[in-house]
Amino acid sequence: MKWVHRHLLGMRDLNAREIGYLLDKADGYREFLDLAPKRKPVLEGYCQLNLFLEASTRTRVSFEMAGKLLGMEVVNFSTNASSLRKGESFRDTVRTLARMKADVFVVRHQSSGVPEYLSRFIPCHVVNAGDGLREHPTQALLDLLTIRRAFGYFSGLTVAVIGDVLHSRVARSLITGLVTMGSRVVVSGPPTFAPPAAASLGAEVVFPVEEAVAQAEVIYLLRIQRERQDAGFFPTVKEYSRFFGLHRLPLKDGEKRVIMHPGPVNRGVEIDSSLVESEASLIEEQVTCGLAVRMAVLETLVLEGRVA
Ligand code: CP
Repeated sequence: MKWVHRHLLGMRDLNAREIGYLLDKADGYREFLDLAPKRKPVLEGYCQLNLFLEASTRTRVSFEMAGKLLGMEVVNFSTNASSLRKGESFRDTVRTLARMKADVFVVRHQSSGVPEYLSRFIPCHVVNAGDGLREHPTQALLDLLTIRRAFGYFSGLTVAVIGDVLHSRVARSLITGLVTMGSRVVVSGPPTFAPPAAASLGAEVVFPVEEAVAQAEVIYLLRIQRERQDAGFFPTVKEYSRFFGLHRLPLKDGEKRVIMHPGPVNRGVEIDSSLVESEASLIEEQVTCGLAVRMAVLETLVLEGRVA
């Protein structure tokens, strides 16, 4: 197929065919990652700039590894050592960096819309690595790849997304991607965290959590952002764990059921520690699929993406 996008800003921009195209490529890279040596320098001579203005382990390191495995020169911008500390504006910082002729900017920012804003004036491909409460498209793609590799299909599958849906860019991107691919999505957790927006994205709101879990083959838990505890969304972390955490995975008529989580995990809060490394857990496989997806996204944008 002909890839028509210049950037990857959100799952809302992709149709089912485009998602399938990226997943097929990522599936190949996922197989490739089990081999040694792991290097496929199809992007030799290109340059990637990672601009992470918000903390990250999985996304930042896997984008760096993905670029390097594909043969790119990868530069990590460090906020603390930059002239942002001297008061240079973000716009001037980015325009300056763009003049160094990177081919791809990978951007994480605490404010919603920053990658899209940059894409309007930066003369290279922009990849959204998570912006505010808005989107985290490569997280959704890696979740879709993990699910497709576990089940082989999307249509007919129910996915329960449980927890802080309201503040979660992961949930927004994942629900959009799953609905586009034909899955049924139910959201649950404290009612204060289930936004009306979930319905507008195509998800159903189901209470209580046990009922949502009972309906689903995939139980997708979201991280409780402890910094929100004082905002009145839930009483205490202990009570959150008691009423909304996953402590066991009930059997479902002999059907396969899996647990997923984007990480980082609060063990013993949204998920019992013993379940994190249980047989049903795909949490660590999600990390490896993340590297494969980021390789597929970088390769597609740099070699096939629309240029200005
Ligand atoms: N899931 C995720 O985005 O993790 P990081 O914040 O560690 O990148």
